[in-house]
Amino acid sequence: MTAPDISELQESLLAEVASADSLDALEAVRVSALGKKGAITAQMKGLGALDGEARKEAGQALNRVKDAVQAAIGARQAALDAVALEARLAHETVDVTLPPRPRLEGHLHPVSQVTEECIAIFGEMGFTVAEGPDIEDDFHNFTALNIPPEHPARQMHDTFYLNPPDDRPAPVLRTHTSPVQIRTMETSKPPIRIIAPGRTYRSDSDATHTPMFHQIEALVVDETTHMGHLKGCIIDFCRAFFDIPDLPVRFRPSHFPFTEPSMEVDIGCSREGGELRIGNFGEGADNWLEIMGSGMVHPKVLEYGGIDPTKYQGFAFGMGIDRIAMLKYGIPDLRTFFDADIRWLRHYGFVPLAVPSMVRGL
Ligand code: DAH
Repeated sequence: MTAPDISELQESLLAEVASADSLDALEAVRVSALGKKGAITAQMKGLGALDGEARKEAGQALNRVKDAVQAAIGARQAALDAVALEARLAHETVDVTLPPRPRLEGHLHPVSQVTEECIAIFGEMGFTVAEGPDIEDDFHNFTALNIPPEHPARQMHDTFYLNPPDDRPAPVLRTHTSPVQIRTMETSKPPIRIIAPGRTYRSDSDATHTPMFHQIEALVVDETTHMGHLKGCIIDFCRAFFDIPDLPVRFRPSHFPFTEPSMEVDIGCSREGGELRIGNFGEGADNWLEIMGSGMVHPKVLEYGGIDPTKYQGFAFGMGIDRIAMLKYGIPDLRTFFDADIRWLRHYGFVPLAVPSMVRGL
């Protein structure tokens, strides 16, 4: 084959590549040029008939054609791929402003549901809802709650510490909702009657502990509040929440740095057959389940909150929202609360518009 023939072959193949308007067409061109029976392949086979110098020259010329055609095919393929992608993206556009299809209807998470139930019950008793930050300073999370730096209770909290921005003690992810007691006392005057539901954090994880969980705190402060009020309030709450009018409630002496005296609260239950059930199982039944900590606010805590302990006194309690949700709705593993599994939520979730109230029921 002479030089002009070769350059003609190259030109015509490049023209075919350029006019290939789909990946299939391009593949056909490739086969017709470089395939087993392709034009270039045929020329390669013909080289054997030439001798010496002529064969070498023709071979080099053919290789240049082959390289040029291969490069052109590669470039054309990239261009066609880009066009195909554009077309696909245009076709698959999602209009995120469209309303969800009815089957995607959401459910209320049990934590939200139980929080609302608690707010409904305590709201009826005259409590309002207070809030505090998830990232707390050492003073509000510990010191002002009568937990000084060297106090062993600090170790028991498995605290997440953050990097300190300056030379003050490191901020923490609050280990309980009790700091909201201090924040409320700092900003309001007695009479105080608040609940504070919210997220809390401890470095702990198993079937009944997750690094993030929820608590609800209660604080009452005025001049005459006494332990009878504490007991009445907690007993009423437990019976309303579990919807068991004769639910046994027991107060057991305990210790918390921020209350004096302190009590843990147990409710009646049965563990017969390995199954935990909450309720009144009659005279002589002696099965108890701890559900919260409580006590009369320690005078030092009132003082830290800027309230005169010689004039005012109060009670407080705190409990795990996730824990009472597990008990009330029979959810065995706490970790599943935070798996974001839509099937779990369909099973344990609540219809969004059925807002709990004491009148219409929880
Ligand atoms: N803050 C305690 C905890 O996380 C719970 C608690 C106990 C809160 C007694 C209270 C209380 O307000 O009086 O374990």
